[in-house]
Amino acid sequence: MKGIVLAGGAGTRLHPMTAVTSKQLMPVYDKPLIYYPLTTLMLAGVREILIVTTPRDLSAFQSLLSDGSQWGLSLSYLVQPTPGGIAQAYVLGADFVAGGPSALVLGDNLFHGDGLVERLNSAVRAAEGGGATVFAHQVRDPERYGVVDFDSAGRATSIEEKPPKPRSNWAVTGLYLYDAEVVEIAANLKPSSRGELEITDVNRAYLDRGRLAVERLGRGFAWLDTGTPESLLDAALFVRTLEQRQGVKIACPEEVAHHMGFIDEAGLEAAVARTAGSDYGRYLARYLEFGRIG
Ligand code: DAU
Repeated sequence: MKGIVLAGGAGTRLHPMTAVTSKQLMPVYDKPLIYYPLTTLMLAGVREILIVTTPRDLSAFQSLLSDGSQWGLSLSYLVQPTPGGIAQAYVLGADFVAGGPSALVLGDNLFHGDGLVERLNSAVRAAEGGGATVFAHQVRDPERYGVVDFDSAGRATSIEEKPPKPRSNWAVTGLYLYDAEVVEIAANLKPSSRGELEITDVNRAYLDRGRLAVERLGRGFAWLDTGTPESLLDAALFVRTLEQRQGVKIACPEEVAHHMGFIDEAGLEAAVARTAGSDYGRYLARYLEFGRIG
């Protein structure tokens, strides 16, 4: 399974913070925002990942993440010239996915919760067998999201993008797993009224074919997006609260890479050396000495 992190967009709602840099490079407490979705893909076992970003921000992402080998990953990069919609990732990235299954994650989405890895693993297996899997989470303001509705048997019946009158409070989160057909579906999309290739139209195409699985993430999971100053701060406070209380980091790529077997002790030692002098580095040093904390 290959992965795509979509890390472009104008970041307009975060101006002036994003006037000269990317939203997905903004700090969420102690690490850049993109670390969170990137580690979600890593926890799903995905190692070959395409980062899609803007012409302006490409070099910053390359400086931060390089070729990914420090975390046992293979990272490549692609420029999205203008924000033409989330589904455009599959028009631009058609060669990258090259006829295989893939996972797409939005660069501003943060997932956290016990059991997430098991849920990711079963979604990966499902997408490898064909069809698509998306994750839904209950929100107070569904009109801001893609919204999925269910029948009494729990089967998805409709999926709409930012409906003024939502049929449910289940938002579709920014993590999507697809079989190889996504490329052909994306290639045939027409831009929406806001001029974008909508990921919701891709998901509806799978729903119409009877090939969309919608996994509901219950209240034990946290799903945060970070599109506004308030939600960015909320996400930072959430991470800080858990990390301070538990002494365990959320979305630490070095730790995840080691846990997943992507890097060995030597790789971890190199990471400790790279981050020396910071709390982050001290955390890695402790992890190197004592192993997984929880
Ligand atoms: O967060 C989940 C929601 O994400 C879903 O419920 C919606 O169905 C989906 O359309 C999307 O809604 P948003 O309004 O939040 O999408 P936004 O335009 O903010 O884009 C999400 C991220 O993707 C953002 O970090 C920027 C990036 N992006 C977006 C577009 C449109 C790109 O890199 N390129 C793009 O062309």
